[in-house]
Amino acid sequence: MKVPTAREFFFPSRPLSPAEQVDVETRFFRALRLPNGTYKTTYANRLPDVDAALCDLLEADGAASATTPVRVLDVGVSSGMTTLELVQAMEARGIPRQVVAVDLTVNAYLHRAFGVADLLCDPSGQVLQIALPFAAKGRPHDPRGSFPRRALQSAFELAERWVGGPNRARVGRLVQLISPRLRERSDVTVVEHDLTRANAAWDGQFDVVRAANILNLDYFDEATLARMVGYLRRALRPGGILVVARTHDDTRRNHATLFRLVDDGLHPVRRIGDGSEIERIALVPAGVS
Ligand SMILES: C[S@@+](CC[C@H](N)C(=O)[O-])C[C@H]1O[C@@H](n2cnc3c(N)ncnc32)[C@H](O)[C@@H]1O
Repeated sequence: MKVPTAREFFFPSRPLSPAEQVDVETRFFRALRLPNGTYKTTYANRLPDVDAALCDLLEADGAASATTPVRVLDVGVSSGMTTLELVQAMEARGIPRQVVAVDLTVNAYLHRAFGVADLLCDPSGQVLQIALPFAAKGRPHDPRGSFPRRALQSAFELAERWVGGPNRARVGRLVQLISPRLRERSDVTVVEHDLTRANAAWDGQFDVVRAANILNLDYFDEATLARMVGYLRRALRPGGILVVARTHDDTRRNHATLFRLVDDGLHPVRRIGDGSEIERIALVPAGVS
C-alpha cells in the first residue's frame, strides 16, 4: 500500500473526491509513528458499534431532548476520522453536541531538505516522515530490529540533526495533522495535549470522555495508564460516561467498556466484545494507586 507523502496529503495537485480523500487519509496516517511509539493509524467505519452503544446510553439519559449540548472529550484522535463519525452518529440521533478532539501531535512542520527530501516533523524537531520523490517512510517500528529498520532509523537520526531541534523545526511550513473534513465542523474544536499530563481546565467539564485505540498495554505501562485514566476520570462531570475502546485490526472487532462515573468511581455499564483490556486499571478508585 503506497504511503502518500506529506506534500501529496497537504497540498494535493487536484481536488479529491470524498472517497479519494478518505483513502489518502487512511494510507497517510497509518504510516505515521510518533516518537513515543504510538501510531496515528485510524480508518473509516472503525467504531460503529461503540458509537451506537454510546448514543443508546445518551438517548436513555434524555440527551436527544435536552436543550444543552452533550460535551464530549475525544482523546488520541489522530486525523479525527473516528471523531467525525461519532459526531455524525450523534447528529443522526438528534443529540446536540460540542466536541473537543485531543491529540499529542496536531501541529507539524514540513521542511525541504538536501534539495530533494521533504521532512515532516513535530514541534520538538522529531521527524515523522521522510519523503523522497519515489517513496515516503514513517519512523520505523522496532528501530533496532532488522538491518533495513536500523538503516531507516539512522536516516531519521540524520534528518533530525539537520532539522536541529524545536527552534529550527518551527521555521518549516506549518501543517495540521487533522482531516480537512473535521476542521470544517463548527461543533468540533481540536486541541493539542499530552494525556500523560493533567489538565485542570478540563476538571468536571465533560459528559462523555472517549479514548479509542490509545489506552492500551502495547502503548503504555500500567502505571502510566492508571495516571492517564485518572486524569480522564477527573474531566467527567458526575454521572458522565467514559468509553475505552480498542480495535483488533486483524479481525476489525472492537473490545470496549463504557463506564459511568458515580460517587465512588467508575462503574462498567456496557461491554462490547471482551470489554476493555484496561478495565481493571480504570476501576481502581480515585486516589488509590
Ligand atoms: C491509534 S491512534 C487512534 C485514533 C482514533 N482514536 C481511532 O480509534 O481510530 C492513537 C492516537 O493517539 C495519539 N497519542 C499518542 N500518545 C498520546 C498522548 N500521550 N497524548 C495524547 N495523544 C496521544 C497519537 O498521536 C495518535 O493520533
